[in-house]
Amino acid sequence: MKKYFFLLLILVLTSIYYFLRNPMGVNKNSSLISINKTEFGTLKNGTVVHKYTLENKIGTKVSIITYGGIITNLKTFNKLGELEDIVLGYSSLEEYIKENPYFGAIVGRYGNRISKGKFSISGKEYNLARNNGQNHLHGGNIGFDKVIWDATTQIDKNSASLILSYTSGDMEEGYPGNLETRVIYTLNNENSIEVLYEAITDKSTIINLTQHSYFNLSGNFSESILDHEVKINANAFLPVDETLIPTGEIVNVECTPFDFREFKRIGKDINLENEQLIIGNGYDHCWVLNDYGTMRFVAAAYHSRSGRFLEVYSDEPGMQFYSGNFLDGTLPRRDEGYYGNRSGFCFETQHYPNSPNNKEFPSVMLEPNDLYTSKTTFNFSIK
Ligand code: BGC
Repeated sequence: MKKYFFLLLILVLTSIYYFLRNPMGVNKNSSLISINKTEFGTLKNGTVVHKYTLENKIGTKVSIITYGGIITNLKTFNKLGELEDIVLGYSSLEEYIKENPYFGAIVGRYGNRISKGKFSISGKEYNLARNNGQNHLHGGNIGFDKVIWDATTQIDKNSASLILSYTSGDMEEGYPGNLETRVIYTLNNENSIEVLYEAITDKSTIINLTQHSYFNLSGNFSESILDHEVKINANAFLPVDETLIPTGEIVNVECTPFDFREFKRIGKDINLENEQLIIGNGYDHCWVLNDYGTMRFVAAAYHSRSGRFLEVYSDEPGMQFYSGNFLDGTLPRRDEGYYGNRSGFCFETQHYPNSPNNKEFPSVMLEPNDLYTSKTTFNFSIK
């Protein structure tokens, strides 16, 4: 009897010990892979924004905040063994709220542009915010990059996940249907970050979610990304009009500056006298990825001086490759100074821009009883 009492006491004391060590309730059951939760800031209405840092056994760390599901920091080693941030971001919540060109954010309900903010479903017209000239961009005035996500965590031997959920109400930002959304970020010991998107709706609606991290693999944000070599698994891209809406043509990349079928420096052709590069002010186009219908390799970027190599896999039909053309030296870096023109690039896996108004493009419709899923994996290594 006494023996059982002591066993019970030990059990209770151990539980108290672990509770005190981990009062935030975050799982930390292994020294190899971990999740750490801290407070990042507070909104004017008193809501506390949390930051979750996932770390794998290699030492790669990714930090995500509950405001916009934003990846604020992503630290990987270079070939000299130095751990550095490789994504653009700010150091405070206030800066993200003040002005954010979608640094690290989850973008929704519709990533990219919708012409004149209009689309129809079964003959009913919907009007969205025209927040980018005459067009709708990245979900509107308060898109998924500016809302507070609920967060839970899950951890096992080889992976750590942050599960973010947000329910967007019927007609929020003009989109029909209550949309229950989940975005799961998973960092694993193979040095990949997987982003899994899921959603259900109670009315026919449109959806196109993406992740908007700006990478600079050099780890030095005073440098531009023009020396990065990029490869994109696409034989074609979508030319755009002067408001950056696809014209509807699907153009072969062969003999154009848009040919990234083999590794090429971003800076190699970016300043050529080319109508599309002039309109985009550089690369700001959607590539028509090969082999739509499977999870496959879609793009890679290599920075030779740091040795950092990024590979992207996705099941999406398109990828917006944006070379940070609108960065103009006015947004403050985390260290000192400001983010200069083309100091970051984005690989935004997604459906094509303006799909709701183009029957030829893969559909972005989501019907009640259907599950929206989309998956993109970013793998980090050194070469
Ligand atoms: C768009 C750019 C835009 C940037 C930041 C990208 O996804 O393609 O045109 O400037 O996001 O808003």
